[in-house]
Amino acid sequence: MTHTPEPAPQPIQPDSAPPDSDTRRDFIVEIPPALIEALHRARSVAVLTGAGISAESGIPTFRDAQTGLWSRYRPEELATPAAFEQNPRLVWEWYAWRRELISRARPNPGHLALAEMETRLPHFTLITQNVDGLHQRAGSGKAAPLIELHGNIQRVKCYQENRVVDRWQETDDPPPRCPHCGGWLRPDVVWFGEPLPWEALAAAQAAARACEIFFSIGTSALVEPAASLPLLALRRGARLVEINLHETPLTPHATHFLPCAAGAALPALLRQTWSQGG
Ligand code: OAD
Repeated sequence: MTHTPEPAPQPIQPDSAPPDSDTRRDFIVEIPPALIEALHRARSVAVLTGAGISAESGIPTFRDAQTGLWSRYRPEELATPAAFEQNPRLVWEWYAWRRELISRARPNPGHLALAEMETRLPHFTLITQNVDGLHQRAGSGKAAPLIELHGNIQRVKCYQENRVVDRWQETDDPPPRCPHCGGWLRPDVVWFGEPLPWEALAAAQAAARACEIFFSIGTSALVEPAASLPLLALRRGARLVEINLHETPLTPHATHFLPCAAGAALPALLRQTWSQGG
């Protein structure tokens, strides 16, 4: 497959929205009173996010029919070790295009609401499948753990030695070379067929087991092992809340399904739960 990096879609800038847009959204999304009550009582909450939470920042998802990356590109040609070995330049350039797109995007009200939520709850763990770093840029991970299950696209590591590299020489013939061993550099993301970082997965599973409320937000709930985390929480008796534009295989198991955009639902949840300072 030949690949020409595409012009990046324009990110939706939250601060370019009309000033009252969040308030208007709040009227639309009504949070179930039982969920608000459960949040007031909860000591431990875990949240799993997927590409849908960054969609409102202008980052394409993977599996949405028209706009998802996997409707335009084949994962096995871009996101596997075999693809990299066969065409390292193509893979490097595809990730460089995504890195550029991400660096121009901004966190949206959904990311910001989750950053605020971690300051409101005694135990809160944010688990993300996203590699875009937008949760950190929104302020998450300061007051509570933030677990990146699939790595981070802004980090680069040596393909040969698996060592993260801070600086490297750009080249006209990418991928650039590791300054230590001369091997190819690659993005520090998990590709298909690769294991997840085990500490991250173990911490995510522990948070799923311990929580009283588990949120699954903007994920198709299809990719393992992340897809099993909500089920693990459910088996331990947690209340499961799903926020997604569409139903997923998880929806029949959800205690509450909020069929709306994360950037609308999460600010509404935050305001309707803690507006009284509760
Ligand atoms: P998907 O693209 O599979 O799913 C995105 C989900 O977000 C879909 O269920 C959409 O309905 C939903 N969605 C879209 N916009 C939304 C919005 N504004 N608010 C709420 N929901 C919205 O993405 P993931 O589930 O994250 O793995 O994909 C999982 C993994 O598959 C990714 O981490 C990536 C991919 O291959 C790796 O790169 C290893």
